[in-house]
Amino acid sequence: MPKPIIEVDSPLREGDRRILVCQNTSCAAKQSAEILAKFQDEPLPSNCHAYPVGCQGQCSVAPTVRIVPDETWYCRLTPEDTSAICDALREDTVVEEKLNPRIHRYSHY
Ligand code: FES
Repeated sequence: MPKPIIEVDSPLREGDRRILVCQNTSCAAKQSAEILAKFQDEPLPSNCHAYPVGCQGQCSVAPTVRIVPDETWYCRLTPEDTSAICDALREDTVVEEKLNPRIHRYSHY
């Protein structure tokens, strides 16, 4: 059962990271529920938690995941991409080939 949708701007404890997985129409049509479930099942760093959220305004590159407070935006994810993103969170890096090029101009696309 997914956790309830949260407000993106709700208070974030210092040091915490949120993995915001869009569950709105465009993303839902492209396996965002499976992506959320994978993030929630992964052994994430203790300061990271995955949540379902509403539309993040990046529907054309769905499914979308945003990491806050880092402001790392991923796009066109598949459930198979979650492990690499979790590894990147542990290592304080990013998965460059999955960065949203509309937001991260240097990303590979
Ligand atoms: S539906 Fe997911 S970003 Fe808009």
